Amino acid sequence: MLYQKSAQKMFALLGFLCLIASAQAADPKLANITILATGGTIAGTGATSTTTVGYTAATVGVQSLIQAVPEMAKVANVSGEQVFQIASENMSNEHWLTLAKRVNTLLAQKDVHGIVITHGTDTLEETAYFLNLVVKSRKPVVLVGSMRPSTAISADGPINLYNAVSLAASPEAAGRGVLVAMSDQIHAGRDVSKSNTTMVDTFRTPELGMLGYFQGGKPFFYRQVTRKHTVETEFDVSALNALPNVEVSLAHANVGGVAVDAFVAAGAKGIVHAGVGNGSLPAKTRPSLAAARAKGVIIVRASRVGQGILARNGEANDDELDYVVADTLSPQKARILLMLALTKTNNTKDIQRMFYTY
Ligand code: DGL
Repeated sequence: MLYQKSAQKMFALLGFLCLIASAQAADPKLANITILATGGTIAGTGATSTTTVGYTAATVGVQSLIQAVPEMAKVANVSGEQVFQIASENMSNEHWLTLAKRVNTLLAQKDVHGIVITHGTDTLEETAYFLNLVVKSRKPVVLVGSMRPSTAISADGPINLYNAVSLAASPEAAGRGVLVAMSDQIHAGRDVSKSNTTMVDTFRTPELGMLGYFQGGKPFFYRQVTRKHTVETEFDVSALNALPNVEVSLAHANVGGVAVDAFVAAGAKGIVHAGVGNGSLPAKTRPSLAAARAKGVIIVRASRVGQGILARNGEANDDELDYVVADTLSPQKARILLMLALTKTNNTKDIQRMFYTY
């Protein structure tokens, strides 16, 4: 009698395990997509279903995010890894290096066809651009977040996540650089930015334009990027455990050189001047920037305005000052390219070439 009972239990357990295995059995017709979870609002929870601000980011684990969207199993074989669990205002250079190395390791595997990264929206555009420069694969890498926590009425996370997995599983997403899937839109990691503090459709590429739409969970492309990315770049972080310290100094009326002087004293190797207008250099800031350059700090002129080409030798004589201009990169993205540039060279002509290339 006792034997029969234990046998029954064993078979029941075996049956259960087979059930799980069959439920998770990969469909060979579908792409294998790995979701790397880093935290953010998409993993956030609020006190009530109407809490859309004042919630806690980075509380829900990757398996819960996957289980909340069972429809994803129809478009891809999805697996998940919890790489970090942080609010993205806390994303660091070290987090980026860890994430980039994991992405490159996974994409080197034949059985991984694409990656989705769930991420807080505050620095999502920065992580997307960093990965755009260091991922060494043509396979799709898609960043996704949400503006409402998972507990909110009409939470945008589930549909954003579904779209992101559908995009990563789509063959036409390959070779387009790192992509951002938010609010039924497809954006290029190089050009997208968060444009509103709380709105669901906050991610925009105002003048250069988004790459396409989602409709019915399917991606539709209408543009492609022209700047080099991923396998075309000269940057390799595989052997790096740190990135050069580069800071951003914001210009405004009455600004002086205090921030620049402090950055130099703290050991910055590069400073991005987020200038007013076309990257203008205020008279009270010029001496500090020149002194920084004289100490070997690389200076990049960018603009705080958000759109447009930063003209070389326009508002300042860059040739004479030996400064670099950021082209169309925002100050926060110019910081990323300058950090990576400084892992290769201190030559300003070479660095300027990089800003016109990526
Ligand atoms: N703390 C912000 C972040 O993790 C929340 C914003 C969001 O993820 O949408 O980026």
